[in-house]
Amino acid sequence: MTEQPQAPSTARMIDYWLGGTNHHPVDVAAAQAFEGAYGPCAAIFRSLRAFSGRAARHIAAEGVDQFLVFGAGIPAQGNVHQSVPGAHVLYTDLDPQIVAAGRELVAGLGNVGYVPGDAADPRRIDTDVLDRTLPEWTTRPVGLIFLGLAAFLDDATLAHALDEMYDLVPDGSRLAFDFDAMELTAYPEALAMMGPGFHMREPADFGALLGRWRVTDDGIVPVARWRPDGPVEQVPDAFWGGLAVK
Ligand SMILES: C[S@@+](CC[C@H](N)C(=O)[O-])C[C@H]1O[C@@H](n2cnc3c(N)ncnc32)[C@H](O)[C@@H]1O
Repeated sequence: MTEQPQAPSTARMIDYWLGGTNHHPVDVAAAQAFEGAYGPCAAIFRSLRAFSGRAARHIAAEGVDQFLVFGAGIPAQGNVHQSVPGAHVLYTDLDPQIVAAGRELVAGLGNVGYVPGDAADPRRIDTDVLDRTLPEWTTRPVGLIFLGLAAFLDDATLAHALDEMYDLVPDGSRLAFDFDAMELTAYPEALAMMGPGFHMREPADFGALLGRWRVTDDGIVPVARWRPDGPVEQVPDAFWGGLAVK
């Protein structure tokens, strides 16, 4: 990454917590300040990234080999194309700096792309790029990955976005989702750092926003407990999530 950003990015803070190399001093300072107000975060974000990997692999195991990722952040440290090697993956994000950094990271990977995209308006994602990166996105099920993003959308915007995503993709498509539970209510200083546009939710409230998407029998659970590969990671239940089907 070349350009030095003036403000931290949650995506690069996560990269720092995951032990990556795609972050800057401003991100490290923000991450350490947040940890001062909340507590250690690395294990929580490793658990969340592990959930992303399990969800993507379970989607792939059901025959889906094309993924559209919203609010993708930094495509490294076990992101979707690394969890499902060989899959067609289109990453999207709203933040131009993150898109630029992401593009550098996936440049030269044949089946992988990164373009600007607002998750609140998924139908505006460039269809030419969709056609090139996910050649069968209109005819075969797509895995939609919607992680680390719900907190930045209010209820009405989130419900609308999830509804538009449902209409965007063929039957049989899957949606991997997560959201911030109410964990930060016990840490007002940390919560204040997230700003006024940060939305935590109860599982039932998030479930209602899924609209026509049908959650699998796994339900909406703390991400560490979603189809664990082994012993469940001992982390706070800060993020809940699941898998839903069209
Ligand atoms: C907390 S990071 C999560 C990144 C990644 N999904 C992960 O799980 O590590 C949130 C990301 O969502 C992006 N974002 C926020 N609002 C968005 C929107 N309306 N549409 C697309 N991306 C958005 C931010 O730029 C940031 O990269």
